[in-house]
Parts: sequence; C-alpha cells; structure tokens
Amino acid sequence: MKHTKVKELLNSAQTMQEVYVKGWVRTFRNNQFIALNDGSTINNIQCVVDFENTPADTLKRITTGAAVALKGALTESKGAGQKYEIQVSSLEILGDSDPEKFPMQPKKHTLEFLRANAHLRVRTNAFGAIMRVRSVLSFAVHQYFQEKGFVYVNTPVITGADAEGAGEMFQVTSLPLDNLPKTEEGHIDYKKDFFGKHTNLTVSGQLEGETFAMALGQIYTFGPTFRAENSNTSRHLAEFWMIEPEVAFNDLDDNMDLAEDFIQYVIKYTMDKCADDLKFLEGRLLEEEKTKPQAERSEMTLLEKLNFVLENNFKRVSYTEAIDILKNSTPNKKKKFQYIIEEWGADLQSEHERFLVEKHFKCPVILYDYPANIKAFYMRLNEDGKTVRAMDILFPGIGEIVGGSQREERYDVLVEKMKVLGIDEEELWWYLDTRRFGSAVHSGFGLGFERLVLFVTGMTNIRDVIPFPRTPGNAEF
Ligand code: 4AD
Ligand code: MG
Repeated sequence: MKHTKVKELLNSAQTMQEVYVKGWVRTFRNNQFIALNDGSTINNIQCVVDFENTPADTLKRITTGAAVALKGALTESKGAGQKYEIQVSSLEILGDSDPEKFPMQPKKHTLEFLRANAHLRVRTNAFGAIMRVRSVLSFAVHQYFQEKGFVYVNTPVITGADAEGAGEMFQVTSLPLDNLPKTEEGHIDYKKDFFGKHTNLTVSGQLEGETFAMALGQIYTFGPTFRAENSNTSRHLAEFWMIEPEVAFNDLDDNMDLAEDFIQYVIKYTMDKCADDLKFLEGRLLEEEKTKPQAERSEMTLLEKLNFVLENNFKRVSYTEAIDILKNSTPNKKKKFQYIIEEWGADLQSEHERFLVEKHFKCPVILYDYPANIKAFYMRLNEDGKTVRAMDILFPGIGEIVGGSQREERYDVLVEKMKVLGIDEEELWWYLDTRRFGSAVHSGFGLGFERLVLFVTGMTNIRDVIPFPRTPGNAEF
C-alpha cells in the first residue's frame, strides 16, 4: 500500500476507512496523541494511538523526531483546531530519535541555535514553512517569465569576467597553492591554470545574459552568485541566488514596469499557494512583536504588508529628488536615521534608504538616475553627462531588493567609460561585440532572491531564508 501525504488527507474533505501515512513525530502527548508532520504542510495530523493494545516498548520509542509509518481510519476530530485525525490501528517505528540527544525538542529555540543546526532546523514548523515558501516563490519566478515568453538562460558559474567591477570575487584555481607556478616577473602564472587564465565565481550573470537578450529578445537567469564582500550583515550572503531578466528594446521605464509587475506577481502567486504557511509565519511574527515595546511594533501584520505591496504602486523617485528630501529632513532622534546626507553624489547608506522607504514614503520606492561615479560601468549615461539610467528598488524592512539599469548601448561611450575605469577591453571583447553588431537599447535588473524570501516570510536575518547560509567564517554543512 502506498502512503498518502498529510496535505492530501487534510484537503480530501472526507473520512476514510484506512489511510497510510509516514512522517516524523513532532510531539507525543499522554501516551496517546502523536502530532505527525511529513513536510507536505505546516499542519500536523493528530494520530490517536490505542495505548492499551500497543506494546510498552513501542510506546517508548514514539519520541520527538522519530520516523514512523502508521495505518488507521481517518475520522473527524473532536479536538480543537483540527478537522481530522487518524485512529491508529498499526504503527511501525522506522527510525528512532533519542530524546536525550535530538536537538530539536518541542520548545522555543533561538534562531542562532537553529542556524548552528541548519541540517535539522528544517524539521521545525517555522523553517518547514520558510523553505516551502521559498520553493513556491522560485516556481513563481519561472512561471512569470515563462508565461511572458522569456527564455531561461543558464549563465556560467565559473567566469573570467567581473560583471560588477567591484572586485569582490572568489577566485577559482586548480593550481597547487603550496607550489604556485610563477612567470619570469614573479607573478602567478595563470596560463598554467586549468582554464589558461585567471577565473572566479560569478558575481552576476548579467553580461552573459545581455549577449543572449540581443538574440532571443527577452531572457532571464536564475542561479547562484557569489560575493566575497566581508559584510557580516543580516542582508548579505557570500552565496545567494539572483534572478536577472534582460530585455532588448526596453528602456528604463519599461524596466521599472517589468520589475514592479514581476514582484507583485510572485508575491500574489505565493500568497495563493502558501496561505497556511504564511498564516503560520504571520502568527510567529505577532508573538515576536509582543515582546517589543509598543513604539517599535510593526503597524501591519505580515499579510497586510504583502497585500500593501500588491495594492500600491511603487513610488518612483530620482536620486536627485531623494537627496533633496534627505537634505531637508531633520535628523531623527532615533539612532537608526540620524545620518542625513549632505552632498549630491554620495552613495546612499542603508540608513538613508530606510529613511526614504520606512519614514518618508512608507511604500516600496524605485530610485533612479544615480550619479555615474557610484554605479557600474555598463549603465547608460544620461544627457546631463553625470547621471546614469540606474534603478534600485527599496523595500520596507529590507532596503535594496533590486538593482538594475538601462545599459550603455553605444560602443564608443562604453569603451571610453571602460578606459576611464581601467576595465580591460580585451577581457570583455565578447561583451563589446554586442555593441559592435546590432546594438540596441536594452535593460535588465537583478533581484536578490533571498531578500525577496525575507520580505515574504517576514524573517529578519537572511541566514534564515536559505537552506545552508554561506557567510564570512561560516561554511559548515
Ligand atoms: O545591485 P547588484 O550588485 O546588481 C547586479 O549584480 C546587476 N548585475 C544586476 C543586473 O542588473 N542584472 O545586485 C542585485 C541584487 C541586489 O539588489 C540585492 O537584492 C542582491 O542582488 N544582492 C545580494 N543579496 C544577498 N547577499 C549579497 N551579498 C547581495 N549582493 C547583492
Ligand atoms: Mg546594487
């Protein structure tokens, strides 16, 4: 007999003579009630054990974390909060879990403790919910672009290019580190390396993506990207997943429209498919909020926040307008927002972004037309000669969730810019070919997938929305 998933049983809306389920024991109460979870849903199914007719030895082995298989009748439950339960007629212990040793006992664990047990934390309700939401969100990403006829492109993980020109890359080499081959000048001889050149893990698939957009029209990538930036924050990972659409003939306004529509679609899709998980996460957040002083509590619940994003247009504001707003704002006494900017041309710090989004506009904001000198080399220079067609989307509680731009499609202007920045033309000859042969206006953006998962789940640390986080000093598992 094939076992059935708990989610299917709970949705079946009928009682049944015999069902067969397999899962893990969350709790076992009064030697009688098993709360069983099989990962298919946040909802445990209550399984009522006939303790008088079950050997004492078996009862002892029904412990939190144990894997069990059981059969019984699915009946309507008299217990509160559940529609059905299983009257167990036979039960088999598949795998024991020593209660003295299993770390995920049913009590409140700190997130730090759970991070140190990332291989087991997914057995908790919260992490089960987060990982299901993450999975559905990633499906929604594909669904959105595929419905619109975008082509999914797998850009390389190992590359010779530094797409962002920020130099924060993990190097890839097959050379023996204790005996590096040297050139006559005493430099490392990368010609002797596996690829015959210096390579690194990709920081972005954009440059390769652009070459495909100039043939297929509209493409997207969705893959892992790597940054060796030593920023130990709750928003940065060394390995994160990025979604990068790139569209030929789109200008910056089209790019903003696409980003807004895309984000709203994937959130809506996930709210429809993950109602139970999101409700659970909302409840978890409400509990957490209660521990904070009144003034610091969020004005909206998780679902209200998500609905707000669906129902409201993102506010589009130029960098210059944003600087004026920041300049004219009286520094807030609260420490978080005391760094009010003084000069046009400065990069915005996360305090500024948070001020604009959370205090000033109180909605998602698209900032555009940034000073050229604080943005990457490939962005389209505006007619003013000092700003570029860049856009960053800022989200409440998250900060920057999207970075994108209209690309510099003019060969001469791009080459000139690369010269000024000391970017090797020979290294990027293939990228420049897109501007030499059939160049056209095009735009794209990158959305940090984990930042989106953060927003949708209401979690506050990016380490808690990726299965096995990679951060400075941490590559356990
Ligand atoms: O703004 P970024 O650096 O832009 C790019 O990489 C462009 N090539 C994208 C494009 O136009 N195709 O990164 C894009 C997004 C950020 O807005 C942020 O959401 C996320 O990627 N991101 C990170 N997420 C987690 N950890 C990090 N260390 C991140 N760095 C960027
Ligand atoms: Mg950025």
